[in-house]
Amino acid sequence: MLAIIGGTGATQLGHFVPTHRRVMRTPYGDPSGALTFGRIDGQDVVFIARHGYGHTIAPHQINYRANIWALAEVQADGIVALASVGGIRADLAPGVLVVPDQIIDYTWGRAQTFFSDGDKPIVHTDFTRPYDEPLRQRLLRAALQAGEGIVDGGTYACTQGPRLETAAEIRRIAGDGGDMVGMTAMPEAILAREAGLGYATLAFVSNWAAGMGDNTERVALEAAREQTAPSLERILRILRQLV
Ligand code: HPA
Repeated sequence: MLAIIGGTGATQLGHFVPTHRRVMRTPYGDPSGALTFGRIDGQDVVFIARHGYGHTIAPHQINYRANIWALAEVQADGIVALASVGGIRADLAPGVLVVPDQIIDYTWGRAQTFFSDGDKPIVHTDFTRPYDEPLRQRLLRAALQAGEGIVDGGTYACTQGPRLETAAEIRRIAGDGGDMVGMTAMPEAILAREAGLGYATLAFVSNWAAGMGDNTERVALEAAREQTAPSLERILRILRQLV
């Protein structure tokens, strides 16, 4: 059973037929909301809305550990994370879908590990390739089959938020090698790795990052997201092929 972590806007996936919801308690507190079990084209999936079903939980306040723990507990066998990002690289313009292959973590103060409790030995988890390559390839194939253009690879720079970045911060991130910027990849990706769950992101570019493209004065994120809303249909077509 594949797990889908929905990002901004993905709370209502068409063709997703819910069967039941389950409220989970975890040793790390409450997940962002109930897990919603259901089917896409007859295939079992479990869905959780990262920002809560009413979209009230900011990126730095998400209980990433509870979310991942809950998905592991119900025996999900992989996680597709949906995420909206700002485009930095020239080909990552608003409207583009991309499956990133690397991460740079600029977040701070988020609970980063399941292995920090009490007197458990320290664990240094390999994270050379932060995304699960087989799941990435499945996503790329599914996009091909769905006839949806998609970009293979790119570095997801994860900022703390909830504010957007300054133009100078985006210049610095670009210099570091960041191709797109979002606020939720970390610690979601490392916690999935620690929990033994394959994890890949299907990112949707909703806007040019600060100072990029025509965003010389300001980034209007909500407006950008509204303009690019039809992308949810494209994401769903890919997910239907994937499951
Ligand atoms: N910055 C950070 N996170 C984002 C952006 C952005 O420009 N767009 C969507 N998520």
